[in-house]
Amino acid sequence: MSVLSRLLNREPSARGLVIGPMRRRDLTAIQVIERQVYPQPWSVNVFTNEIDMAKQGQRYYIVGYRGGQLVGYAGMMIVMDEAHITNIASDPNRRREGIGRRLLADLAWEARHRGCSSLTLEVRISNVAAQGLYHQFGFEPAGIRQKYYENTEDAIVMWCHNIDTHEYADRLRQLCPEMADRGGST
Ligand SMILES: CC(C)(COP(=O)(O)OP(=O)(O)OC[C@H]1O[C@@H](n2cnc3c(N)ncnc32)[C@H](O)[C@@H]1OP(=O)(O)O)[C@@H](O)C(=O)NCCC(=O)NCCS
Repeated sequence: MSVLSRLLNREPSARGLVIGPMRRRDLTAIQVIERQVYPQPWSVNVFTNEIDMAKQGQRYYIVGYRGGQLVGYAGMMIVMDEAHITNIASDPNRRREGIGRRLLADLAWEARHRGCSSLTLEVRISNVAAQGLYHQFGFEPAGIRQKYYENTEDAIVMWCHNIDTHEYADRLRQLCPEMADRGGST
């Protein structure tokens, strides 16, 4: 990482995706994507609260920029040694370009750095794209929350265990080689 990137707290990836902490100034662009991709989008207030909690260490939220444009974002809540992925989305016009994978890899590395051993999340039964992404990272279905979304659609609860192992670090390096420096020697 260059000195400038470190100063800006931005990390350039091989594919030109620049990852950094989510800030209030990102929320206008985030809302454009959020409203397109979720039936019940988070409000600016919800994001603002999450960003505030990130400053206190209970959350971690990131954005991805490419060519100066916000193309994705993601975040998680950390409770003890578990990280709960709360949101991950990429620009509908930039799908299958590796943005989701890069964002999730960043969350997983951060969870490891914070001492977590597991990742968990809920996903709509119909959300084949997201399930495909989670499967790549080793998430497995562990249960169903019935009518979790809009009191209609079921959620699959997924877990990914043992993220604190050398084997999982290797998996992350394989998934996102451009991020390999993030993991150090473990
Ligand atoms: C889920 C989401 C973040 C994936 O973002 P993306 O930038 O397209 O993901 P990537 O390009 O990094 O794809 C990574 C992997 O996910 C899987 N995947 C992504 N889109 C897929 C699709 N439409 N069908 C099947 N698998 C898919 C594939 O395994 C893919 O790897 P590959 O391209 O090498 O085959 C994106 O579809 C999205 O924003 N969806 C709306 C928001 C959402 O549902 N978030 C999840 C809430 S639980």
